[in-house]
Amino acid sequence: MSQKALVIPSKQAPFVLTTRPIPKPGQGQILIKVESVTLNPIDQRIQSYGLIVEDYPAVIGYGIAGVVTELGEGVIKFSVGDKVATSGSAGKSDFCGYQQFALGDVRFTAKIPLNLSFDKAATLGVSLETPAIGLFGPYNAKLTSLIEHPGAHKGQTILILGGSASLGQYGKFILLSCPWYSNIITTALPTHEILLRTLGATHVVDHRLPAEEIISMIKSTTANNSIKIVYDTISDAHTQAVGWGVLAEGGHMVVTPKGDAETRTFAWTYGSPHTPPHYEFGEKLWDAVYGWFESGTLVPNKVELLPGGLEGIVAGLERLRDNKVSGVKLAVHPQETA
Ligand SMILES: NC(=O)c1ccc[n+]([C@@H]2O[C@H](COP(=O)([O-])OP(=O)(O)OC[C@H]3O[C@@H](n4cnc5c(N)ncnc54)[C@H](OP(=O)(O)O)[C@@H]3O)[C@@H](O)[C@H]2O)c1
Repeated sequence: MSQKALVIPSKQAPFVLTTRPIPKPGQGQILIKVESVTLNPIDQRIQSYGLIVEDYPAVIGYGIAGVVTELGEGVIKFSVGDKVATSGSAGKSDFCGYQQFALGDVRFTAKIPLNLSFDKAATLGVSLETPAIGLFGPYNAKLTSLIEHPGAHKGQTILILGGSASLGQYGKFILLSCPWYSNIITTALPTHEILLRTLGATHVVDHRLPAEEIISMIKSTTANNSIKIVYDTISDAHTQAVGWGVLAEGGHMVVTPKGDAETRTFAWTYGSPHTPPHYEFGEKLWDAVYGWFESGTLVPNKVELLPGGLEGIVAGLERLRDNKVSGVKLAVHPQETA
C-alpha cells in the first residue's frame, strides 16, 4: 500500500510530492493516520542547508496528530481508533509527519482527549519537547525535574526571550507546571501581551526595543543580577545581547552556544526525545501529556491551517523563513492532499 508524501529526494534538493510505501509498525510502534502536522522553522533549514538529516530521500515533519490504525508487537498502551499526538524523529522518515501515515514510537506518543482538535495536538512535538528538555532535561539548565519533585527554584526569576514563539509559549507552561518561579519575564510584540500573561508571564517587554533599553527594563523589575536562567528561543545577536546582559554570575543560558562562558554556563538543546540521553525524560514527558490536557493546564498554541494538504507546506516554510509568522503554529492536513 502506498501513500502521498512530501519528500526531500537528496540533500538540499527541493521538496517533491510523491508516493512512498505505508510503513509497518514494529515492536513498540503504532501506525498513525496523520490528520494534522505542524511546520517548524528547522524544517526549512533541513531542506535548504542540509542540517541534521543524513539519509535521503527523506521525509520530515515533527509535530504529528492523528488516529491509530495498526498496532505493532507488544503494544498495549494504545488501541486502534485512539486519537494521539506524537513526536517525529529526525532522520527516520517513517516516523515523520509530512506524509499521510507515520509510525509512532509508543514511548513518545500520548492519547489526546476526544474534544481536542488534531491541529492543537499537533503543536506539541518538538515545540513542547525542546523547552522541556532545555529547561528540565538530563542536561542543559539542569533544573530539578518537572515530573519528579519541585524544590530548588522557588521565588526565582527566569527570562524567556521570544515569549510568543511556539517554544516560548510551551516554555512558560513547562515552568508553570512546577510553580517555583515568582517571575517569568518575557520578550514579544505588545500585541501578544494578554495571551502571554494568560500563559503565566509576569512581565512582557517589547522585543523591538534596543538591547540596552530591554536590559535596563528587566533589571528595574528584578534585583540586579538575580536572573539565574535565561531561555533564548530565538538566539540571534539581539536576543543574545539581552540574555547575556542580564544573566547573573553562576547563571545558565539555554539554547545558544555563544558569549562569555567563564563564569556562566550555556547549552544548545537538541529538542528531541529520540536520542539515548533523552529516552527516559521523553517518556515521562509524553506520559504526562494526557493529564495536562484533561486538567486544562496545557494550553496549546494557536493554529493557522494552510490549504492544499501536503502541498501547502512549501509556502508555509517560506513564511517561517521570512519571519512572517507571529504567535501561531502553521499546520496542514495531509489527508487533504489532492
Ligand atoms: N534546538 C532545537 O532542538 C530546536 C527545536 C525547535 C526549534 N528550534 C529553533 O527555535 C527557534 C524558535 O522556534 P519556534 O518553533 O518557537 O518558532 P516560531 O514560533 O515560528 O517563532 C516565531 C516567533 O518568533 C518571535 N520572534 C522573532 N524574533 C524575535 C525577537 N528578536 N525577539 C523575540 N521574539 C522574536 C516572533 O514573535 P513576535 O510575534 O512577538 O514578534 C514570533 O511569534 C527557531 O529558530 C527554531 O529553529 C530549535
